[in-house]
Amino acid sequence: MTDELRVARVSADQLHELRRRVLRNDDPAIYHPDPRDEEETSWHYGGFIGSRLVVSASFFPSAPPMNTELVTVQLRYMATDFDVQGRGYGAGVLAFAEEDLRAHGVEQVWANGRDTALGFYESVGWRRVEGSEHLSAETMLPHTVIFKRLSRDEVAP
Ligand SMILES: CC(C)(COP(=O)(O)OP(=O)(O)OC[C@H]1O[C@@H](n2cnc3c(N)ncnc32)[C@H](O)[C@@H]1OP(=O)(O)O)[C@@H](O)C(=O)NCCC(=O)NCCS
Repeated sequence: MTDELRVARVSADQLHELRRRVLRNDDPAIYHPDPRDEEETSWHYGGFIGSRLVVSASFFPSAPPMNTELVTVQLRYMATDFDVQGRGYGAGVLAFAEEDLRAHGVEQVWANGRDTALGFYESVGWRRVEGSEHLSAETMLPHTVIFKRLSRDEVAP
């Protein structure tokens, strides 16, 4: 099996198991599919090594808490499987997804990022909103609001 990452748009069905294991302690009692998962306006990405799914990321249309004039989607369920974290796969999936979303007219992405993952998001160009620290009502873990503009203007020199 090659360890080259392949990224593709997938159906939410393909992501539930990885989301549950990595983000919800493998507990079916606390993992529920997102009510918006099957909507046509949702975007789901999978990162694969060979045929094995190793990364999940989903984006949903959302009124953003910042830059409200921009076409924005919210990232949820960002996860890399435990044994392959730290190999660049999460960053690879986000780069693919951000480019795909930008090509489809999305101008900004945002998320409630786990504080333990903020270094990851910052390393790929996301920024935190000062003063937005909070506990997730779903997991009770500390989170911070983060975002990234996708417009070419901002990345151009
Ligand atoms: C956070 C997570 C998605 C990152 O995915 P990953 O595939 O392990 O990350 P990558 O290997 O692509 O890392 C890219 C960069 O971020 C850094 N990074 C990764 N996780 C980090 C973390 N938790 N804190 C600080 N930096 C981190 C890496 O060192 C790497 O930096 P480099 O480019 O300087 O080498 C993954 O660790 C994970 O699933 N964690 C548990 C679930 C979670 O917290 N999900 C986020 C919910 S908001």
